[in-house]
Amino acid sequence: MVLFAILIALLFYLFKVILNDDPAGGGSSGPLFGWGGGSSADEGQGGSSGGAPSEGIELQDPGYPSYYDPALEARYEAFAAARGDLTEDEVYWMVGCDLDKDPYTDTQPVPDPESYLMLVNKHYYLPEDFYPSDMVTVGATQMREEAAGNLNDMIDAAAVEGLKLWAQSGFRSYGLQVDLYNKYAASDGSEAADTYSARAGYSEHQTGLTVDLNTITDAFGDTAEGQWVKEHAHEYGFIIRYTEENTDVTLYKYEPWHIRYIGIEAATRMHDEGIASFEEYWVKYVK
Ligand code: DAL
Ligand code: ZN
Repeated sequence: MVLFAILIALLFYLFKVILNDDPAGGGSSGPLFGWGGGSSADEGQGGSSGGAPSEGIELQDPGYPSYYDPALEARYEAFAAARGDLTEDEVYWMVGCDLDKDPYTDTQPVPDPESYLMLVNKHYYLPEDFYPSDMVTVGATQMREEAAGNLNDMIDAAAVEGLKLWAQSGFRSYGLQVDLYNKYAASDGSEAADTYSARAGYSEHQTGLTVDLNTITDAFGDTAEGQWVKEHAHEYGFIIRYTEENTDVTLYKYEPWHIRYIGIEAATRMHDEGIASFEEYWVKYVK
C-alpha cells in the first residue's frame, strides 16, 4: 500500500514537471514587451498560434497578435525606444506598415494596386503608368465602377434627408498629381505642401477609389453634409481617410472632404471596432 502511494506520488510529480517545465523558454531572453517565453528567433513566422511565447499551461497568455513579425523585432525595439508614448500593439502595427521610417524614404511599390483594400500613403506608391481598369464617370469626375456605384447610392441617401453631396475630384493621373503638388510646393514650400498634398505616385486619387466631396475646406466637416458623411460613409463602403485623430499616422492634415472606398465590410469593421486609420486596419486585417 505504501509502495503504491509512493508510485502515485512519483507519477503525479513527473506529470507536473512535464506540464510546467519549459526548458526552451526558461531563462532565455523574452520578447520586447515582456510576455515571457522564448526569444524572437524561436517564434516561427508569427501568426496567432505559432507566435505565442510558452509559459507552461497558462492558457490566458495573450501571445503575439497575428501581425507580429519576429523578423521586425529589432525595429520594434528601436521604435518603442524612440517613441515612448506607444503601446505594444501600436508599435507592432505601426512598424508593420513602415511608420518607423521617415516619409518618402525607403518606400515600396503597392503590391496589389487593383485591390479595394490596397494601401497607398507616404510609404507605398503606385507606378507612374498605373490607371485603374474599370473607371466610370461620376458627377464631373471619374472613379472605379464599384466605388462610383456606392458613391451614387450615398449621394441618393443623403438627398432623401435633404442634404446635397457631390463628387468634386475623383481619379487623378500621376501627371496631374505632379502638376498639383509642384504648384502647391512653389507657392507654400514643399514642407507645407507635404501636409496636404501627396507627391505623384503617393496619392490615393490615382487609385480611382477616392473622391473629394463638396468643398475643400475644414468647414465642410461641420456642415450637415459633412456630419452625415461622418456618420454614414461606412454604410456605403467609404471612410474619411484623413481625420483629426489619425494625423500622426497619415501625416496629412484633417481632410473631411476626402473619402476612400474600401468596401462595405471593411469600412463597417473599421467603424464598429473604432479603428482610427486605414493603416492600422491594413496591417491587422489585410497585409
Ligand atoms: N490631398 C491628398 C492627401 C492628396 O493629395 O492625395
Ligand atoms: Zn482628396
